[in-house]
Amino acid sequence: MSTTDGWKAVTPADEVEEDDVVCVTACGRRLAVFHLEDGEYVVTDDRCTHGEASLADGYLDGDTIECPRHQGVFHVPTGKAMSPPVVDALPVYPTRIEDGQVWVQLPD
Ligand code: FES
Repeated sequence: MSTTDGWKAVTPADEVEEDDVVCVTACGRRLAVFHLEDGEYVVTDDRCTHGEASLADGYLDGDTIECPRHQGVFHVPTGKAMSPPVVDALPVYPTRIEDGQVWVQLPD
């Protein structure tokens, strides 16, 4: 894992297929790396804000992810909670693609 100026390379971009999501760990955080069907990459926390569930195991439908545990729904690009029982937004981190890697900027 590479780090420069607070940015971390978390996975090769080509390891996340389009319309898919994978779970990675960086700096002690479990992250979900989304590659949406429009080509955009988005990195969020992997843990659902409602409970202990991995969103990378959820159902990705366009730009929304359904939690596998209680079927709460988040809007991936903004992290907005869209459907009960989730009410708290999902943290979304600044993300960029460089040198074939997905880079994310995490808070300290
Ligand atoms: S743990 Fe995700 S909706 Fe309950």
